Amino acid sequence: MQWYTPAMPRGFFITFEGLDGSGKSTQLRLLARTLQAQGRAVTTTRQPGGTELGDQIRAVLLHSATQNVAPLAEMALMFADRAQSIHEIIQPALAEGKIVLCDRFTDSTEAYQGGGRNLGSEPVLALHRAVCDDLWPDLTILLLPSLETSLARARRRNGRQMAQGTDENRFEAEGRAFYERVFLKYQEIAARERLRVVAIEEDASVDAIEKRIVEIVEERLERVATSPD
Ligand code: TYD
Repeated sequence: MQWYTPAMPRGFFITFEGLDGSGKSTQLRLLARTLQAQGRAVTTTRQPGGTELGDQIRAVLLHSATQNVAPLAEMALMFADRAQSIHEIIQPALAEGKIVLCDRFTDSTEAYQGGGRNLGSEPVLALHRAVCDDLWPDLTILLLPSLETSLARARRRNGRQMAQGTDENRFEAEGRAFYERVFLKYQEIAARERLRVVAIEEDASVDAIEKRIVEIVEERLERVATSPD
Protein backbone atom coordinates (compact mmCIF):
# COMPACT_ATOMS: atom_id res chain seq x y z
CA MET A 1 0.00 0.00 0.00
CA GLN A 2 1.27 3.46 -0.90
CA TRP A 3 -0.01 6.61 0.82
CA TYR A 4 1.07 8.95 -1.92
CA THR A 5 1.55 8.84 -5.63
CA PRO A 6 3.68 11.58 -7.17
CA ALA A 7 0.58 13.15 -8.74
CA MET A 8 -1.15 13.61 -5.37
CA PRO A 9 -0.86 16.95 -3.67
CA ARG A 10 1.33 16.43 -0.65
CA GLY A 11 1.68 18.80 2.27
CA PHE A 12 4.77 19.06 4.41
CA PHE A 13 5.35 16.85 7.43
CA ILE A 14 7.43 18.23 10.33
CA THR A 15 8.12 16.43 13.59
CA PHE A 16 9.58 17.73 16.84
CA GLU A 17 11.80 15.48 18.90
CA GLY A 18 13.83 15.66 22.07
CA LEU A 19 14.03 14.58 25.67
CA ASP A 20 11.27 15.37 28.13
CA GLY A 21 11.88 18.99 29.08
CA SER A 22 13.69 19.89 25.84
CA GLY A 23 11.15 22.62 25.08
CA LYS A 24 9.87 21.00 21.88
CA SER A 25 6.16 21.40 22.67
CA THR A 26 6.61 25.15 23.22
CA GLN A 27 8.54 25.47 19.98
CA LEU A 28 5.91 23.50 18.08
CA ARG A 29 3.21 25.90 19.30
CA LEU A 30 5.28 28.94 18.35
CA LEU A 31 6.01 27.59 14.88
CA ALA A 32 2.33 26.76 14.31
CA ARG A 33 1.43 30.33 15.21
CA THR A 34 4.03 31.79 12.84
CA LEU A 35 2.99 29.58 9.92
CA GLN A 36 -0.69 30.32 10.50
CA ALA A 37 0.05 34.05 10.59
CA GLN A 38 1.62 33.60 7.14
CA GLY A 39 -1.71 32.21 5.96
CA ARG A 40 -0.59 28.59 5.75
CA ALA A 41 -2.88 25.69 6.62
CA VAL A 42 -1.41 23.88 9.62
CA THR A 43 -2.47 20.77 11.53
CA THR A 44 -0.85 20.08 14.89
CA THR A 45 -0.89 16.83 16.81
CA ARG A 46 1.18 14.83 19.25
CA GLN A 47 2.14 11.22 19.96
CA PRO A 48 1.08 9.34 21.84
CA GLY A 49 -2.43 10.81 21.62
CA GLY A 50 -4.35 13.17 19.38
CA THR A 51 -7.02 10.63 18.40
CA GLU A 52 -9.66 9.04 20.60
CA LEU A 53 -7.87 5.71 20.55
CA GLY A 54 -4.50 7.42 20.96
CA ASP A 55 -5.61 9.40 24.00
CA GLN A 56 -6.61 6.15 25.68
CA ILE A 57 -3.28 4.56 24.80
CA ARG A 58 -1.52 7.69 26.11
CA ALA A 59 -3.39 7.57 29.41
CA VAL A 60 -2.39 3.95 29.98
CA LEU A 61 1.21 4.33 28.83
CA LEU A 62 2.10 7.50 30.67
CA HIS A 63 0.32 7.03 34.00
CA SER A 64 2.75 6.05 36.71
CA ALA A 65 0.21 3.54 38.09
CA THR A 66 0.77 1.43 34.94
CA GLN A 67 3.43 -1.02 36.04
CA ASN A 68 5.29 -4.00 34.66
CA VAL A 69 4.93 -3.14 30.97
CA ALA A 70 7.03 -5.38 28.74
CA PRO A 71 9.31 -3.22 26.53
CA LEU A 72 7.97 -4.92 23.38
CA ALA A 73 4.38 -4.26 24.49
CA GLU A 74 5.29 -0.62 25.12
CA MET A 75 6.81 -0.35 21.64
CA ALA A 76 3.79 -2.02 20.02
CA LEU A 77 1.38 0.34 21.80
CA MET A 78 3.36 3.38 20.63
CA PHE A 79 3.01 2.07 17.09
CA ALA A 80 -0.71 1.30 17.49
CA ASP A 81 -1.13 4.94 18.49
CA ARG A 82 0.98 6.09 15.54
CA ALA A 83 -0.85 3.98 12.96
CA GLN A 84 -4.15 5.48 14.14
CA SER A 85 -2.73 9.00 14.06
CA ILE A 86 -1.43 8.53 10.51
CA HIS A 87 -4.79 7.14 9.41
CA GLU A 88 -6.96 9.70 11.15
CA ILE A 89 -4.90 12.91 11.21
CA ILE A 90 -1.56 12.96 9.42
CA GLN A 91 -2.29 11.32 6.10
CA PRO A 92 -5.60 13.16 5.45
CA ALA A 93 -3.99 16.52 6.32
CA LEU A 94 -1.00 15.87 4.05
CA ALA A 95 -3.32 14.78 1.26
CA GLU A 96 -5.05 18.18 1.59
CA GLY A 97 -1.69 19.88 1.18
CA LYS A 98 -1.43 21.04 4.80
CA ILE A 99 1.66 21.43 6.94
CA VAL A 100 1.52 18.84 9.71
CA LEU A 101 3.41 19.53 12.94
CA CYS A 102 3.67 16.46 15.13
CA ASP A 103 5.10 16.43 18.66
CA ARG A 104 7.13 13.17 18.61
CA PHE A 105 7.06 10.40 16.00
CA THR A 106 9.02 7.22 15.28
CA ASP A 107 12.36 8.77 16.33
CA SER A 108 10.91 8.87 19.86
CA THR A 109 10.24 5.14 19.75
CA GLU A 110 13.74 4.50 18.46
CA ALA A 111 15.24 6.71 21.19
CA TYR A 112 13.05 5.63 24.15
CA GLN A 113 12.22 1.99 23.39
CA GLY A 114 15.16 1.25 21.08
CA GLY A 115 17.68 3.16 23.21
CA GLY A 116 16.15 3.66 26.64
CA ARG A 117 14.59 0.19 26.89
CA ASN A 118 17.49 -1.45 25.06
CA LEU A 119 15.38 -2.97 22.27
CA GLY A 120 17.76 -1.62 19.64
CA SER A 121 16.87 0.29 16.48
CA GLU A 122 16.09 -2.65 14.23
CA PRO A 123 12.72 -3.80 15.67
CA VAL A 124 11.56 -0.18 15.77
CA LEU A 125 12.44 0.46 12.15
CA ALA A 126 10.94 -2.89 11.10
CA LEU A 127 7.67 -2.09 12.85
CA HIS A 128 7.68 1.37 11.32
CA ARG A 129 7.90 -0.16 7.87
CA ALA A 130 5.10 -2.58 8.70
CA VAL A 131 2.53 -0.33 10.36
CA CYS A 132 3.40 3.21 9.20
CA ASP A 133 3.89 2.30 5.57
CA ASP A 134 7.36 3.80 5.96
CA LEU A 135 5.97 7.36 6.11
CA TRP A 136 8.80 9.63 7.24
CA PRO A 137 8.74 13.33 8.06
CA ASP A 138 10.08 15.79 5.50
CA LEU A 139 11.87 17.54 8.35
CA THR A 140 12.56 16.72 11.99
CA ILE A 141 13.58 19.36 14.49
CA LEU A 142 15.53 17.67 17.26
CA LEU A 143 16.02 19.78 20.36
CA LEU A 144 18.96 18.27 22.14
CA PRO A 145 20.47 20.60 24.72
CA SER A 146 22.77 18.90 27.21
CA LEU A 147 21.43 15.99 29.25
CA GLU A 148 21.87 18.02 32.45
CA THR A 149 19.72 20.88 31.16
CA SER A 150 16.95 18.57 29.96
CA LEU A 151 16.84 16.55 33.18
CA ALA A 152 16.68 19.67 35.33
CA ARG A 153 13.80 21.11 33.26
CA ALA A 154 11.89 17.81 33.30
CA ARG A 155 12.21 17.60 37.09
CA ARG A 156 10.84 21.12 37.54
CA ARG A 157 7.90 20.35 35.26
CA ASN A 158 7.09 17.08 37.05
CA GLY A 159 6.83 18.96 40.30
CA ARG A 160 4.38 21.41 38.71
CA GLN A 161 2.29 18.63 37.14
CA MET A 162 2.03 16.70 40.39
CA ALA A 163 0.95 19.89 42.16
CA GLN A 164 -1.81 20.31 39.52
CA GLY A 165 -2.96 16.71 39.99
CA THR A 166 -1.94 15.44 36.51
CA ASP A 167 0.15 12.32 36.38
CA GLU A 168 1.97 11.57 33.12
CA ASN A 169 5.12 10.60 34.89
CA ARG A 170 5.80 6.95 34.14
CA PHE A 171 8.70 7.82 31.83
CA GLU A 172 9.92 10.74 33.88
CA ALA A 173 10.35 8.36 36.81
CA GLU A 174 13.15 6.60 34.90
CA GLY A 175 16.67 7.09 36.15
CA ARG A 176 19.58 8.93 34.64
CA ALA A 177 21.00 5.86 32.85
CA PHE A 178 17.75 5.46 30.89
CA TYR A 179 17.85 9.09 29.75
CA GLU A 180 21.51 8.80 28.86
CA ARG A 181 20.65 5.94 26.50
CA VAL A 182 17.76 7.97 25.01
CA PHE A 183 20.12 10.93 24.52
CA LEU A 184 22.79 8.81 22.82
CA LYS A 185 20.23 7.21 20.51
CA TYR A 186 18.95 10.64 19.46
CA GLN A 187 22.53 11.64 18.64
CA GLU A 188 22.91 8.44 16.61
CA ILE A 189 19.68 9.15 14.68
CA ALA A 190 20.80 12.72 13.92
CA ALA A 191 24.15 11.48 12.60
CA ARG A 192 22.44 8.87 10.42
CA GLU A 193 19.58 11.03 9.10
CA ARG A 194 21.51 14.14 8.13
CA LEU A 195 19.07 15.34 5.50
CA ARG A 196 15.88 14.88 7.51
CA VAL A 197 16.97 15.72 11.05
CA VAL A 198 18.18 19.15 12.10
CA ALA A 199 19.60 18.97 15.62
CA ILE A 200 19.64 22.13 17.72
CA GLU A 201 22.06 21.39 20.52
CA GLU A 202 22.72 24.74 22.09
CA ASP A 203 20.90 25.77 25.23
CA ALA A 204 19.73 29.11 23.82
CA SER A 205 16.71 31.20 24.79
CA VAL A 206 13.21 30.23 23.63
CA ASP A 207 13.23 33.28 21.32
CA ALA A 208 16.59 32.44 19.75
CA ILE A 209 15.59 28.83 19.10
CA GLU A 210 12.24 29.91 17.70
CA LYS A 211 14.00 32.22 15.23
CA ARG A 212 16.36 29.46 14.16
CA ILE A 213 13.48 26.99 13.62
CA VAL A 214 11.51 29.50 11.54
CA GLU A 215 14.59 30.06 9.33
CA ILE A 216 15.10 26.32 8.84
CA VAL A 217 11.42 25.68 8.04
CA GLU A 218 11.09 28.60 5.66
CA GLU A 219 14.21 27.52 3.81
CA ARG A 220 12.86 23.96 3.44
CA LEU A 221 9.40 25.11 2.35
CA GLU A 222 10.99 27.42 -0.20
CA ARG A 223 13.07 24.54 -1.54
CA VAL A 224 9.95 22.38 -1.98
CA ALA A 225 8.02 25.21 -3.64
CA THR A 226 10.79 25.79 -6.19
CA SER A 227 11.76 22.14 -6.85
CA PRO A 228 10.93 20.99 -10.41
CA ASP A 229 8.64 18.07 -9.43
P1 TYD B 1 5.38 13.83 25.59
O1 TYD B 1 3.97 14.08 25.88
O2 TYD B 1 5.96 14.40 24.35
O3 TYD B 1 6.18 14.27 26.87
P2 TYD B 1 7.13 15.47 27.07
O4 TYD B 1 6.27 16.70 26.90
O5 TYD B 1 7.56 15.19 28.47
O6 TYD B 1 8.22 15.39 26.09
O7 TYD B 1 5.70 12.27 25.56
C1 TYD B 1 5.33 11.47 26.59
C2 TYD B 1 6.36 10.42 26.92
O8 TYD B 1 6.23 9.30 26.06
C3 TYD B 1 7.78 10.88 26.87
O9 TYD B 1 8.38 10.56 28.12
C4 TYD B 1 8.40 10.03 25.81
C5 TYD B 1 7.51 8.83 25.71
N1 TYD B 1 7.46 8.22 24.37
C6 TYD B 1 8.10 7.02 24.14
O10 TYD B 1 8.71 6.45 25.07
N2 TYD B 1 8.04 6.44 22.91
C7 TYD B 1 7.36 7.02 21.88
O11 TYD B 1 7.32 6.46 20.75
C8 TYD B 1 6.70 8.26 22.11
C9 TYD B 1 5.92 8.92 21.01
C10 TYD B 1 6.77 8.83 23.38
